[in-house]
Amino acid sequence: MTREILVTNVEQIPVGEGRMFNLCEGEIAVFRTHAGDVHATQAYCPHLGGPLADGLTSASAVVCPLHDRIFDLASGCGLSHEHMSIKVFKSRLDGDGNVWVEPGAIPAREPIYVGADAHAHAPSESMEVISAS
Ligand code: FES
Repeated sequence: MTREILVTNVEQIPVGEGRMFNLCEGEIAVFRTHAGDVHATQAYCPHLGGPLADGLTSASAVVCPLHDRIFDLASGCGLSHEHMSIKVFKSRLDGDGNVWVEPGAIPAREPIYVGADAHAHAPSESMEVISAS
């Protein structure tokens, strides 16, 4: 059985922007496009955990605010790095502007390593480390 959650009213999200919401299952990002659609995705970028709700949006995509990777809001597919995608959740608007989401399994946030010890804690050589300086 599918479980649908009332997350917010669309008026709480400015057109062309996203907002992060904390559900029991975890955090999600909800976007309101200029076309009048709403999309729900995982909250954090799969690259290094950038907060996707703070990213710039086009009609159908979001740009991660940390390193500019682009993701399609409907499919979750990476548009700039095809091997990287985000999880999207089924969402809809009802007649009163309420945003309903079927959250399913929400991916955990990837850790961000910052500071002098960051390289010692990074789980792999390929993981990027953000310098604190
Ligand atoms: S954290 Fe999103 S592109 Fe790096």
